[in-house]
Amino acid sequence: MNPDLNRLQPYPFEKLAALVADIRPPEGLAPIALTIGEPKHPVPRIILESYQGALEEIGQYPNTLGKPELRHAIAGWLGRRFGIAEDEIDPDRHILPVSGTREALFAFAQTIVERRPNAKVLMPNPCYQIYEGAALLAGASPHYLACTDDNGLLPDFDAVSDAVWNDCQLLYLCSPGNPTGAVMPVETLQKLIGLAQQHDFIIASDECYSEIYLDEARPPPGLLQAASAMGLQGFDRCVVFHSLSKRSNVPGIRSGFVAGDAAALEAFRRYRTYHGCTMSPAVQTASIAAWNDELHVQENRSLYRRKFEAFLEITGDMLDCQAPDGSFYLWPRLPMDDCEFTRRLLREQNVRVVPGSFLSREVGGHNPGQNHVRMSLVASVEECTEAARRIRALLA
Ligand SMILES: Cc1ncc(COP(=O)(O)O)c(C=O)c1O
Repeated sequence: MNPDLNRLQPYPFEKLAALVADIRPPEGLAPIALTIGEPKHPVPRIILESYQGALEEIGQYPNTLGKPELRHAIAGWLGRRFGIAEDEIDPDRHILPVSGTREALFAFAQTIVERRPNAKVLMPNPCYQIYEGAALLAGASPHYLACTDDNGLLPDFDAVSDAVWNDCQLLYLCSPGNPTGAVMPVETLQKLIGLAQQHDFIIASDECYSEIYLDEARPPPGLLQAASAMGLQGFDRCVVFHSLSKRSNVPGIRSGFVAGDAAALEAFRRYRTYHGCTMSPAVQTASIAAWNDELHVQENRSLYRRKFEAFLEITGDMLDCQAPDGSFYLWPRLPMDDCEFTRRLLREQNVRVVPGSFLSREVGGHNPGQNHVRMSLVASVEECTEAARRIRALLA
């Protein structure tokens, strides 16, 4: 058996199940789960109809590159959303469809990392646990960058030594962040692009929450946008990961894409032909419809906006928490230990949340997720407001 499998941590939900295994929630209160990041808004009709109309296409094998029409639709979306000009992006060399970003974020490290001694993969802390597993199974050491309250819930990249940058082969970014909701400014992205050139590493920017934001006038910037604005040729060392799961409420369709550096994507295509990960032709057709439509995405955002406003109005100054710059998560600072809060909230109010320390790693005696919990506002407005009332009652 591959011994590196023993280095993988249990998933946060397994740790949560063990933490609350002995708790009997009050029977008179309906259970509310703010745990899982699975969108619950309805599947847009335009995607459903397109998928249903394409079902006969499953009679063909798809190839790794996907249909040219899909890659063109994605290039068009990148142009409209991030201002990437048509002559900057070649859909045949700069874009690859993937079966959701989870598999792609994992597989990308297997393609990029050279198994050298001291090989490091840098990632935010807290982070989406797939980055860590991807690094470990690629034979590298994860290097955690704490996202602290003092630094706007973003990593302090200035604190990273030259020696660490020299060992870095891959840097995962997540903006908007899961679980923090923090958005990385263009200036930070550009500084990191400079460091990637200087120290020869690849940036994998996970932007799967980029379309969930509260201020219509301030969409989160992306890595390709930052590269384009600084005149970088061919998105050198920059790769972005986008998904329809959160943008379009279709996590079950397993559709996303990676885009950027042509050499990295060519290596990734080669890896994927052996790995055997292709997108069903019917999913490709439905994905074209999804990337070409913004109306359902705007409606989605307005639903999230209503939930954040209602939730935060109810919790008010009882909870030390702000609306995120992006994503559908709240990441409040608690007046008590996060595991204790999680247990009490379930025992007294039948509401489930994820302790922040389960989403982060302890480095130098400090876990940046401690005394935070992640609350995911994916349920209905009614359920989210009821959860807010119960959290208020608990804190009162
Ligand atoms: C930060 C982050 N990246 C990637 C994913 C994977 O999403 P998908 O595989 O559905 O595209 C998730 C899912 O929750 C996530 O939270």
